[in-house]
Amino acid sequence: MALLISVSEFWEDEKIWRQCVQSELPEMDVRVHPDDGDVNEIKYAATWKHPHGILRKYPNLKAILSLGAGVDHILSDPDLPEGIPIVRLVDKKLTHEMCFHALHWVLHFHSGHYLYMNQQLERKWLQQASIQPEDSTVGIMGLGHIGKAIGESLVQQGFKVLGWGANQKPSLRDIQYFFGGDKLGVFLQKTDILINVLPLTKSTNNILRKKELERLPKGAFIINMGRGGIINELDLLSSIYITPHIAGQSNPQSSAKTIAENIRRIEDGETPFPVYDKTKGY
Ligand code: OXD
Repeated sequence: MALLISVSEFWEDEKIWRQCVQSELPEMDVRVHPDDGDVNEIKYAATWKHPHGILRKYPNLKAILSLGAGVDHILSDPDLPEGIPIVRLVDKKLTHEMCFHALHWVLHFHSGHYLYMNQQLERKWLQQASIQPEDSTVGIMGLGHIGKAIGESLVQQGFKVLGWGANQKPSLRDIQYFFGGDKLGVFLQKTDILINVLPLTKSTNNILRKKELERLPKGAFIINMGRGGIINELDLLSSIYITPHIAGQSNPQSSAKTIAENIRRIEDGETPFPVYDKTKGY
């Protein structure tokens, strides 16, 4: 039984991924694309931006496992074999990094560091009044595994946290949750710092346009940790900071454990977690 790893040309660490997956699954023959050997033996593919079309070559593929949190890089393959489960990656290290990234940018805005950075360029040193975290409301769009973890870590720092998502969810202790299109406006009106971690789907594409952005209070900040397609960038009026794809980077050691657990579940006839749901789009 073999597992194929295929990572984008921009990830230089395919050998590390191979080593980590191999040490978690000693019984598996772990191969790296394009050295796939006998295509009939490939039962699993673990990918990040694989070259489109390659997955069709494996007639006995049982599951495609994402090496990143999102699966849009898999779904964008026009030659994706049909009926093969796609398993998303929920990994504690990646989630932790996302929480750090969110906290970093929330504090950058909340504590006025963006002002001090500008002041430095002008050789000015003007102290701003400090604002307490409980006087600032952070709104999180996308209250799945990562969004919830970010929300809980901000609650611990004393921020007021709201969440918005498309579907109803059981209520969360410290995070007021709004759901559905008709509640989006109210949620935005109450939000001083907006964090987006929604997955990109047909229904979330371009969900934040001028009309929605204008619902935010004057002077609000947006931290988009999800895909660019969520926000209509032409409608973003103020100056922006852009970072590379670094909010949460997949950690080969801990992700390999998660992937191995999912493969064992499949081999034992159980359902891996979480599986991409076509009706939800993520
Ligand atoms: C992603 C990731 O899906 O980096 O963007 O995990």
